[in-house]
Amino acid sequence: MPGSTLPSPKGTRDFYPIEMARRRWIEDKWRKTSVRHGFEEIDGPTFEHVEVFTIKSGEGIVSEIFGAFSGKDETQLENLKQGHAPFALRPEFTPTLARMFAARAKQLPQPTKWFWQGPCFRAERPQRGRLREFLQWNCDILGMGGPDQPKERATADAEAIAVCVDLLASCGLKPSDITVQINDRHIVAGMLAECGAAGREMQALMLLDKRGKIPEAEIGPMFAAMGVDLARFDAMAAGLRAPRVSDSPRFADLGAALASLGVEDWCAVNPYIARGLAYYTGTVFEVIVDGERAVAGGGRYDNLIEVFGGPPTPAVGFGMGDVVLSLVLQDKGLMPTDAQIAKDLGLRPDAFVISNGTPESDAAVAPLLARLRGRGLHARRSYKATKNIGKLLKDASDAGARFAIIIEGAGEVTLKNLDDNTQDRGATDAMLARITP
Ligand code: HAM
Repeated sequence: MPGSTLPSPKGTRDFYPIEMARRRWIEDKWRKTSVRHGFEEIDGPTFEHVEVFTIKSGEGIVSEIFGAFSGKDETQLENLKQGHAPFALRPEFTPTLARMFAARAKQLPQPTKWFWQGPCFRAERPQRGRLREFLQWNCDILGMGGPDQPKERATADAEAIAVCVDLLASCGLKPSDITVQINDRHIVAGMLAECGAAGREMQALMLLDKRGKIPEAEIGPMFAAMGVDLARFDAMAAGLRAPRVSDSPRFADLGAALASLGVEDWCAVNPYIARGLAYYTGTVFEVIVDGERAVAGGGRYDNLIEVFGGPPTPAVGFGMGDVVLSLVLQDKGLMPTDAQIAKDLGLRPDAFVISNGTPESDAAVAPLLARLRGRGLHARRSYKATKNIGKLLKDASDAGARFAIIIEGAGEVTLKNLDDNTQDRGATDAMLARITP
């Protein structure tokens, strides 16, 4: 197609340098926050056998899978013709994490605290906050709090929530901006059963997850068809709702654990949080800003390690996406300027080398750059033909450099501090010694 350009596939993003720096700023915060809370980083493949996701994640996510084929395997040709992909690009990381934990469960410490960040793929309809390729950050705690250890379980749940809250706080968000809405599938499934969903609790939970996402006029009849008395459920739910988690007697342990980690102010009980994924077994939570899709979601999944052949293992964690987080930070004016991001990421040039315009000075630019870089400094130059020092100094300051070094001739430079606009001229060695990383 000569003369025309190609857009990236629907729902994907191209990251030019500015967007890439913003992305790295978020990824850097994710990584540093995880490390502060004692999580260790892991990674797995970008694609998995499709069964890894069809086994336990639930229909919602299976209907959004991007299938992948290997052109090398003859036997796959038949699959290809029938449209059955043997592999899936990962729509989420939890099944991979469960597979990895199950394979080494005996050797791994208890608890095991893992974090992960990377791209996920979901064939969703692209819309505000939803893309087809996005980044996710996960923190998961495995092997802490058995079935008869409610306090330890609450501690693990609270630790997972606390690392998530710490990330939000480190971005400048406040409890008045954003809420971790917490619920418990056990409790809600019991309530739904009482309201007519006995034996179909999971279907009712999945429908509850859709409430608020599809019109009430449509969802009412769907609950009715399932035999669920929605008005009764709403009345029971009103009794469970609590602005402070510890005010809700059924969440007393979790409330206490959240309070001791100093994050209870960020949390509330919301009996309508159900979560779309099938594997959650108890506590579930979503991080919500009014009017946006969830920034993060997670919960307890105590049966998943067994599904992947491991021993019974309690587990809790969450995933946070970069798309909604970025929208929220932008809307609240909390996304730093590009100059600040460059500074935070250590991308500011330490020195910008300029020639005073003589042929000798021109020839000295490259060796001086090499010398600075050899000392571990970030050094740049202009590639423009101009000899106008004013213009070159502007280039240096546009690049965000800390210092401009103007080569004045044999063994002499002017060192200009671009932060405070002071300058000094002297022997090259003495001047360069003033630039520390
Ligand atoms: P999830 O709720 O499906 O949970 O996704 C977590 C977060 O990923 C969402 O809150 C959202 O920010 C982001 N996200 C999901 N889909 C998209 C999309 N199409 N475009 C942009 N962002 C998206 C999980 O994936 C679980 N595996 C999380 C987990 C980890 N549970 C326990 N451990």
